[in-house]
Amino acid sequence: MEILIDSANIKEIIRLIDLYPIDGVTTNPTIIAKEKETFLPLVQEIKRHIGYEKTLHVQTLSTEANDIVNEALHLTDQLDGNVYVKIPVIPEGIKAMKTLHQDGVKLTATAVITPLQALMAAKAGADYVAPYVNRVSNLSVDGTKVVGEIVNLFNIYQISTKVLGASFKNVDQIKQVALNGSHAITASPDMIDAIQEHLLTEWSVNQFSSDWKKAFGEDAVPFFK
Ligand code: E4P
Repeated sequence: MEILIDSANIKEIIRLIDLYPIDGVTTNPTIIAKEKETFLPLVQEIKRHIGYEKTLHVQTLSTEANDIVNEALHLTDQLDGNVYVKIPVIPEGIKAMKTLHQDGVKLTATAVITPLQALMAAKAGADYVAPYVNRVSNLSVDGTKVVGEIVNLFNIYQISTKVLGASFKNVDQIKQVALNGSHAITASPDMIDAIQEHLLTEWSVNQFSSDWKKAFGEDAVPFFK
């Protein structure tokens, strides 16, 4: 499963890429707005930091198909490497995806709430679809199951579009979508840290260190030193 960072914060992106096997970065207008920096230079800087291969998913803001297409073409012109244009699955977004797919632009369909929206986006040429797990769960429908249903639909129809689970508010949601076969997830820096950090793990590591010191003295050093 691919793991992406849902953030436009350069410091956090650098920190997480240093620690974890990260596959890319996703942004949306809300995430960009939080950084209070000029849009294009910021996404260009993110791309420089993550390198050519890791995927960068950048969202359009327009709501008319022609404008979405123009925005997407401008973005792909200004960004090098493995770039996906994120487009919400509104009807005009689907129309834009059909055109952009024919032009060879790589696409991530976003703001997906239902499995059929995902199916439509995949048919229109989306390479990834991003179901909003927590936003769905807030409607009293299990968002993690929606991810599983989309994965099933893509398997039934042998569709190669990947499911990119998004909008997580706890680690259990990430675990559930992983079990449901999501090809990728994108999560905030806090969520990614929360995947790995565990009090019992930390406690165990402290225990190892204290047992070692008890046996070999306070100044005992690791084996390789
Ligand atoms: C990512 O592609 C989405 O824009 C993002 O995960 C939405 O998350 P939120 O529901 O936490 O805003």
